[in-house]
Amino acid sequence: MKVMTTVAEVQAYSKEMKAAGKRIGLCPTMGALHEGHMTLCRAARASCDVVIASVFVNPVQFGPNEDYEKYPRQFAADCEKLEAEGVDAVFHPAPEEMYPEGYGTYVNVESDITKVLCGARRPGHFRGVATVVTKLMNLTRADRAFFGQKDAQQVAVVRRFVADLNLPVEVVMVPICREESGLARSSRNVYLSPAEREAALVLSRSLRKAKAAFDGGERSAERLKEITRAELATEPLARVDYVDLYTFPALQPVAEVTETSLLAIAVYIGKTRLIDNVIFTPS
Ligand code: PAJ
Repeated sequence: MKVMTTVAEVQAYSKEMKAAGKRIGLCPTMGALHEGHMTLCRAARASCDVVIASVFVNPVQFGPNEDYEKYPRQFAADCEKLEAEGVDAVFHPAPEEMYPEGYGTYVNVESDITKVLCGARRPGHFRGVATVVTKLMNLTRADRAFFGQKDAQQVAVVRRFVADLNLPVEVVMVPICREESGLARSSRNVYLSPAEREAALVLSRSLRKAKAAFDGGERSAERLKEITRAELATEPLARVDYVDLYTFPALQPVAEVTETSLLAIAVYIGKTRLIDNVIFTPS
C-alpha cells in the first residue's frame, strides 16, 4: 500500500491513475480505524479500481472545547487494517500540509441541513468537514466517495455541497456497522469505561424500540421521539443532547413520517458524546 503525506504526491498519484482510466474510490477518515471504517473500504474495493483512504484528524472541524488534542491517533495500526482490506493508497498529511500559512478558503453549507442536530450544537463543525472533504475530493479526483450512515447529517451535508458545487463525485452512503451488542462502532468508544460501555447500549436499544413502533405502524414524529427518550431515560449514566426526527436528506421538520426520515440521537455517556440514528422508509 502506498503511503502519501504530501499534496504533490497524492495529486501525482491520482493523475496517473486517471490517465490509466481507473475509477477512483475515496474513503475519508480521521483514523483510529475500526470495522465501521472497513465497511467503507470494502464497499469502495467492490466498486472502484483504485481505493484511496485518507487518515487525517482535521483540526478545522473541532470546536475549541472538543477533543482534537486527545482524539486517538494510531497510524501504524491503521495502515495494517487498510492494507488487509486491499486499499491501494493512504493519504496522511500533516495539518500544515492541508492548511499552510495563509490558508483562507472554507466551504460553508448554508442551507437548513447544517442548522439542526449536530450542526446546531457544534458551530463550525460542518464548515470544517465540507472544507476538508472538498479538498480531499479535488486532490484524489475521486469518482466515488464513501461515507457512513453513522454520521447521517454529514452525508446530507456532503450530498448538498457536491450537488451545489457541481463536483463530479458520486456520494455513497454505507449502513451503520454495529458491535454484536448493538453499539454503533466509533473511534470515540475507546473513551468509555467498562461501565459506560454497558450504559452506551441504551442508544441503540432506544432506536430499536422506535423502529419497532414504526414497523408496527406508528407515524407520529412526537410519539417516536417520546419512545426513544423514554428508553434513554432508563439509563442513569446517559444525558441526552438531542432526540430529533427530520426528513432525510433535506433535514426538514416532520410531524408525520410520510417520507424517508432520520431519527437521530446524541447522548453523553459520562464525558463522551455518542451519536446514533435510524432511517425510516415508509412503504
Ligand atoms: P471518522 O469519524 O473517522 O469517520 C470516517 C467515516 O467512517 C465516516 O464517513 C463515518 O460515517 C464512517 N463510520 C464511522 N463509524 C461508522 C460505523 N459504525 N458504521 C459505518 N460507518 C462508520 O467522519 C469523519 O471521520 C470526518 O468527519 C471526515 C469525513 C473524515 C472528515 O474529516
